[in-house]
Amino acid sequence: MNILIIGSGGREHALGWKLKQSPRCGRLFFAPGNAGTARLGTNVPLKADKIDTKAVDAIDFFCRQEKIELIVIGPEDPLAQGLADRLARPGRHVFGPVAAAARLEADKAWAKQLMRAASVPTAEARTFTDAESALAYVKSRQEPMVVKAAGLAKGKGVVVCDDAGQAVAAVRQIMVDQAFGPAGEVVVIEEKLLGQEVSVLALVDGRNIFVLDPAQDHKQVNEGDTGPNTGGMGAYSPTPLIDDALMTRIQREVFVPVVDALHRDEIEFRGVLYAGLMLTAAGPKVLEFNCRFGDPETQALMLRLKADLVDVMIATCTGTLDQVDLAWDPRCACCVVMASGGYPGSYATGVPITGIDEAEKLPGVSVFHAGTARDKEGQLVTAGGRVLNICALGQDLKAAQQQANAACAQIHFEGAHYRKDIGFRVM
Ligand code: AMP
Ligand code: GLY
Repeated sequence: MNILIIGSGGREHALGWKLKQSPRCGRLFFAPGNAGTARLGTNVPLKADKIDTKAVDAIDFFCRQEKIELIVIGPEDPLAQGLADRLARPGRHVFGPVAAAARLEADKAWAKQLMRAASVPTAEARTFTDAESALAYVKSRQEPMVVKAAGLAKGKGVVVCDDAGQAVAAVRQIMVDQAFGPAGEVVVIEEKLLGQEVSVLALVDGRNIFVLDPAQDHKQVNEGDTGPNTGGMGAYSPTPLIDDALMTRIQREVFVPVVDALHRDEIEFRGVLYAGLMLTAAGPKVLEFNCRFGDPETQALMLRLKADLVDVMIATCTGTLDQVDLAWDPRCACCVVMASGGYPGSYATGVPITGIDEAEKLPGVSVFHAGTARDKEGQLVTAGGRVLNICALGQDLKAAQQQANAACAQIHFEGAHYRKDIGFRVM
C-alpha cells in the first residue's frame, strides 16, 4: 500500500518510521517532509498549509499518479481547512478527521460549548466576541485567569495570567492588536486550573474509541518547567500519573460523551482525538482538544506501539478498530527535543548538524528529525526551532531519560539546547 504523509515535523517522521515497519507499507511519501524523512521515503514538494482548490488538486493528482491508498494528515491546519473532506475518494483512506470534527481543536469556543452540553469536566469559561466586554469581565475578576484566542494560533494563543492586569494585557494583545489575526476574533476566558498536565490520545473510528497509553509533555523551554512555552521540549510515555481506574474514568467522562455529542450533531470523528487534561484535586478536566497526533508525544508513543500502524490506521478509517489489538512495549519511552539557539524566540537556520549516526548506535535510541534540511553541498543543517527529537526506550523512565540524554550528548550544532529533565515531575 503506497502511503502519503502530510507534514514536516518529528511527529510525521515518527509516524513514517512506524508505518514503514509494516509489511503492508509500499512506497512512502512525505509532503513536504524534512531531511530525516527523505531517508525513509520520498519527499514531495506539495503545499498543504493553505488548502485552496489548487493545493487540493495538486495533492489529488499526485495521489492518483502514485496510486496512494492511505493519506495521513499530521498537522491541525490542513485538517481544520477540510483537507480530509476534500481528498476523500473511493479506494483511498484518509487518516484524520473532517473539518466539522477538527473544529474541536480549531474553535475553542465551540469546543467549550460542546463540552458543557455533554457535561464533560473542563474549566469554567466565558466566551467574548468584543474586546470591551472581555476587558470589563477580566477587570471584575480577582482570581487567576487563562485567556485564549478561540482559533488556531500555532499553540501560542493561550496566555495563563496570575492577575487582572496580565489578563487585560492578554485580551488587548489578542483582540485589539490582533496578534493572532482572525484566530483572536473570539476569546475564551477561563479559570486557571491547578495540577499536573497529561496528554491522552485516543483513536476514534466514528464509533469505537481506543485510548492510547498516556503521555506527558513538557512545554516550557527550561528545566524545571520554567521559562516561556514552546511547541514542546520533550515527552515520555507511559506516565504513572494515570492508572487503569483513572483511565477508565477519563474514557467515560471525556471521550465517550464527546464522541456521542458529535454524533448527535451528525459529525463522525475518525482519527486521533487528543485530550489535554489537567489532573486537578476535583478530578481530570479538559484543557483542550486536538484533532491529531500530539508532537512530541507521538514520537515517544511510536517507540512503544507494538501493533502494525498500517492496520491500525486503516481500521480507524474503516470503523473496524474493535478488530485490532493495540499492544504496547511495557518499557518507557522518553523523547528529548534538541532546539536551535534562541528558540522559542528568533533563531538562525542553516547551522550544520553532526553526530546523529553516533547517537543512533546507542541501544534503544531513535532519532527523528523535526526542523532539518540539506544545504547545497548535501550537509545536514538546521531548518527550524525544534530541530531533532532524540528518543530512547528504557526499563524505566530514569533509564529512558538517561539514554536519550546520552544520545543528545553525541549530537552537535551551534547553539543547540535541550532539557535533561524530561519526566522529572514523576521521578
Ligand atoms: P491549550 O492550547 O488550551 O492546551 O493551552 C496551552 C497551555 O496553557 C496548556 O498546555 C496549559 O499548560 C495551559 N492552560 C490552558 N488552559 C489552562 C487552564 N484552564 N488552567 C491552567 N493552565 C491552562
Ligand atoms: N504536545 C502538544 C501538542 O501536540 O499540541
